[in-house]
Amino acid sequence: MELFERLTKRAKANRRRIVLPEGAETRNITAADHILADELADIILLGNPEEIADKAKELGLTHINRATVLDPADEKNIDKYAPLFFELRKNKGVTMEDARRFTANELYFGCLMVKAGDADGMVSGAIHTTGDVLRAAFQIIKTEPGINTVSGAFIMLLPEGSPYGSNGLMIFADCAVVPDPDAHQLAEIAVCAARTAREVADIDPRVAILSFSTKGSAKHERVDKVIEATRIAHEMAPELHLDGELQTDAAIVPVVASLKAPQSDIAGRANILVFPSLEVGNIAYKLVQRIAGAEAVGPLLQGLAAPVSDLSRGCVADDIYKTIIMTANQAIHED
Ligand code: ACO
Repeated sequence: MELFERLTKRAKANRRRIVLPEGAETRNITAADHILADELADIILLGNPEEIADKAKELGLTHINRATVLDPADEKNIDKYAPLFFELRKNKGVTMEDARRFTANELYFGCLMVKAGDADGMVSGAIHTTGDVLRAAFQIIKTEPGINTVSGAFIMLLPEGSPYGSNGLMIFADCAVVPDPDAHQLAEIAVCAARTAREVADIDPRVAILSFSTKGSAKHERVDKVIEATRIAHEMAPELHLDGELQTDAAIVPVVASLKAPQSDIAGRANILVFPSLEVGNIAYKLVQRIAGAEAVGPLLQGLAAPVSDLSRGCVADDIYKTIIMTANQAIHED
């Protein structure tokens, strides 16, 4: 069964509540209508109820009336969630007045709903920037126990017949969040990517932490960082099939692996590539997407205490539909 078929089936069987802060926006409301029509999740739309109703009418949507609509600007709603924001941020100098102002912002309101247990996940970013979505999630939802660094993974679906990864499916991380990870952060990114692989992509992880060196072939402080990250990741998750430092060819091409890293248990057959910096990760996923014709699904934020997904501002309604399904699947694994 194809990945999306499996995820769709799982979402339908375990309906989760997904909040969409950009509730009156055309692509969001269209995706929400399709999700409700297919009964894949319960939807909470944030925004002005009249504006949302007008938009639904204009677009001729027929299932959206099953969504819950909440207005973050409504005083009653602010009264409900501002105390939670105040509790979470008072040690950062936030006053109750600040808390009320932040709560009225739809991104913060959505994260507060998730934190309060009134929603299982949030999808946003068709209008807001990545930084804005991430900051709200960092401040309110925070990281899961044992993890300090949130990062972003892409599921890369390579063209049919590709010999790489698991039947052409690979995970790339971090491609979206941490500009210059230190060794500890890199190790966390690797461990979280393995979890993403198991939970959302349904594959057994084989993780390569990449460098421009394979097993000591080059000496440089950046190589040292990857060696140290590999050591820490082994300490964090001793059961994980993971290795570094590896060049990309040693990580994914068996014949090169047998020459450059013959002792490695994952070299030549890695299905998760962990990049040493955001520059490399972001550039690499876009190159593979555009030049190799892969479908890039994500970024899936990993390491948060509850799922939040950031959309690309260039997304279409179908991307939001798929992201809601992925986020619902992440939420199923939270339980
Ligand atoms: N994981 C967990 N918490 C974090 C992380 C992280 N990776 N980064 C920052 N935080 C927390 C901080 O600890 C801090 O918490 P506190 O306020 O409770 O003390 C809070 O978030 C704000 O931290 P800052 O250092 O002030 O973070 P800043 O706002 O400067 O930047 C951001 C964070 C927005 C994620 C920044 O790292 C960033 O811009 N990253 C790149 C995002 C991006 O543009 N990606 C490329 C596009 S996406 C794409 O192409 C798919």
